[in-house]
Amino acid sequence: MSAGRSVTVRAPAKINLHLGVGAPREDGFHPLMTVYHAIGLYDDVTVADADDWAVEVSAVGGVDVSAVPLDDSNLVVRAGRALVAHHGVRRAARIRVRKGIPVAGGMAGGSADAAAALVALDRLWDLETSDADLFDLAAGLGSDVPFGLVGGNALGTGRGEVVEQLPGADVPRWWVVVTAPAGLSTPAVYRRFDELSPDAPAEPRAPHRLVAFLSDPADAVAPLLHNDLQPAALDLRPELADVLAAGEAAGALRGLVSGSGPTCVFWCADADAARAVAGVLTEEHGSDRVLVATGAVAGAHVVEYDR
Ligand code: C5P
Repeated sequence: MSAGRSVTVRAPAKINLHLGVGAPREDGFHPLMTVYHAIGLYDDVTVADADDWAVEVSAVGGVDVSAVPLDDSNLVVRAGRALVAHHGVRRAARIRVRKGIPVAGGMAGGSADAAAALVALDRLWDLETSDADLFDLAAGLGSDVPFGLVGGNALGTGRGEVVEQLPGADVPRWWVVVTAPAGLSTPAVYRRFDELSPDAPAEPRAPHRLVAFLSDPADAVAPLLHNDLQPAALDLRPELADVLAAGEAAGALRGLVSGSGPTCVFWCADADAARAVAGVLTEEHGSDRVLVATGAVAGAHVVEYDR
């Protein structure tokens, strides 16, 4: 990064502890009732003044960043353009993204980057964007972007963009995350959901019991984890069923496809259980593809301020 002021913001990956999906709305989006949970896999976004928008992407650990666009279609540039348009200022930035969140993995990595870019550019330029405006801008960029701002545990409604914080974020949770060699397209998974669920209700399934038990011990919460997109993801990638079965056989309390997949996540009783499950899964999938992470963690936050 060239000399001058820069700001780095870190944003977490998300898991949907519950993902209830309804029949598509008139605008094509699906109504959701979801419980978001932020886990400790992060993307770091560093911004600095520049004459024109530019994006650089690098990988942390074994993340494959080859599919990340480096042009104006990257969500961080769209976030930056939306922010300057909102304030009516003429600014541009060079944006560096260090990706620790699997790409196209159903963990909202691109959304985390957009949330981080909004916060980083707001701080870089002292724009003092109100929280309400930041959430509106975030919602305009993608359904999962507002959650990237709040982190922790949150209820998501609408198409996922309406978020409300939930309790239980202070109870440490241990996850094993198994990434796939190739990503899945979110729209393609939703399309397969539509084919498999022609009678999906207009109102998605609500997570009442999960919300009530969010602070309970892991074994009590395990049976309440639920993902309506899982059958569609498994239909597109049948081999994921073997990954889920292997993780549960190795001692995970529950295995789940993360969001639209193909990343599989395993809810474990504690740190020792997570390490044991990760050890078994690493034999099959390799250490680059098996990660241990804790939840819940904070949303987008400044980690470096250089001015
Ligand atoms: O909002 P976002 O840009 O993340 O959505 C990506 C795609 O996922 C949408 O274009 C749509 O195909 C699908 N989607 C959906 N219903 C949602 C969220 C996403 O159908 N609630």
